[in-house]
Amino acid sequence: MRLRAHVAIVGAGPAGLILAALLHRTGIESVVLEDRSREYVEARIRAGVLEQGTVDLLERAGVTERLHREAIVHGGIHLQFDGERHHVPMDELTGGRSIVIYGQTEVVKDLIAVRLEEDLPLLFDVDEVSVHGFDGDEPYVRFEHDGEEHRLDCDVIAGCDGFHGICRPAIQTVLHTFARDYPYGWLGILADVAPSSEELVYAHHQRGFALLSLRSPTRSRLYIQCAPDEDIAKWPDERIWEELQARTALDGWTLDEGPVLEKGVTGMRSFVAEPMQHGRLFLTGDAAHIVPPTGAKGLNLAAHDVRVLADALIEWYAHGDRTALDAYSTECLRRVWRAEHFSWWMTSMLHNAPGADEFDRKLQLSQLRYVTTSTAAATSLAENYVGLERV
Ligand code: APR
Ligand code: PHB
Repeated sequence: MRLRAHVAIVGAGPAGLILAALLHRTGIESVVLEDRSREYVEARIRAGVLEQGTVDLLERAGVTERLHREAIVHGGIHLQFDGERHHVPMDELTGGRSIVIYGQTEVVKDLIAVRLEEDLPLLFDVDEVSVHGFDGDEPYVRFEHDGEEHRLDCDVIAGCDGFHGICRPAIQTVLHTFARDYPYGWLGILADVAPSSEELVYAHHQRGFALLSLRSPTRSRLYIQCAPDEDIAKWPDERIWEELQARTALDGWTLDEGPVLEKGVTGMRSFVAEPMQHGRLFLTGDAAHIVPPTGAKGLNLAAHDVRVLADALIEWYAHGDRTALDAYSTECLRRVWRAEHFSWWMTSMLHNAPGADEFDRKLQLSQLRYVTTSTAAATSLAENYVGLERV
């Protein structure tokens, strides 16, 4: 079948779904193509920290009804090292700005629900997606759905298909890529137990990094540093709790344990592809860049990309002016590189790299002491963490 839309969106992660919602609000119609099932996409557990700018964008996209009911606002985080826990009051340091705890999975569920309620095109389980014609003025996407072949003609293709998608490889000959792999990963669990700390705890420990986060007043999300290719089968729940207890132990405080609902290992990588556009193909979110999760920036960066792309497309359709579209990559990459640096810096400061020596550890501890004693250093962390207004 031959279909037509203004914008073809490849990928129904947060980037693709937010873009589709923003465009629809201004009468620009899109078709979203996702190669996984709805169940899979809605079950995938990802990060859970939203910057205020991301919440504002979701508001504009019209999907914050449940978020306003369920999200939890945090004004600070804790940094733990050397057996001490230090509070970083991000709200005080940034003139009242804070972060919002609401799972990316929930954001995705809300976006899918609104899209389908409004009867707008969002196809799951598509196969053999390929992108064509973006060098000229008549781009199109080929794909299979329900055993039938389709061609989707469009004005622009948005590559929102994540790190393993097909859009970035389609333009790889024009791209420069920059990457760093880290010699560790995170083993994460979702546990049916109330969080033991009201705000997030990032713990540096000689046994390795640990992070205490949450999803709701009754659900904890916890991570420990592990090998990048760690075999999860070697980690029965008791061993995970034991390690979490050891790495976050503090006099006068206890970490409550509960049933583990989900567990998994994620590798850590920094990656940027430049430029984020070629002809009429635009890359957004994880398709163009990856950050290690320590700075909680992945989803927020994706949200920023789609805001810039949506505004540029609105300008183009309303006034025929391509200036903002042409500047898309340049505009996004400034924030991307700021987040790359911040995420790399947080990661390097908090983890125990295999092969690190006493000198490395002394530097890490000195840096941690500096950000927890100097207002200037703490402000730098805080303004990056809550999301810089200007970069
Ligand atoms: N065709 C269609 N869809 C595809 C294809 C393809 N060939 N390849 C991948 N996809 C889909 C994936 O199944 C996924 O649902 O594209 C989507 C990409 O979504 P994400 O990986 O979530 O990436 P993005 O939307 O950029 O979200 C930003 O922030 O917290 C971080 O990494 C985390 O996913 C998060 C990201
Ligand atoms: C999470 O809650 O999943 C989370 C929080 C903070 C991070 C990374 C992940 O830096």
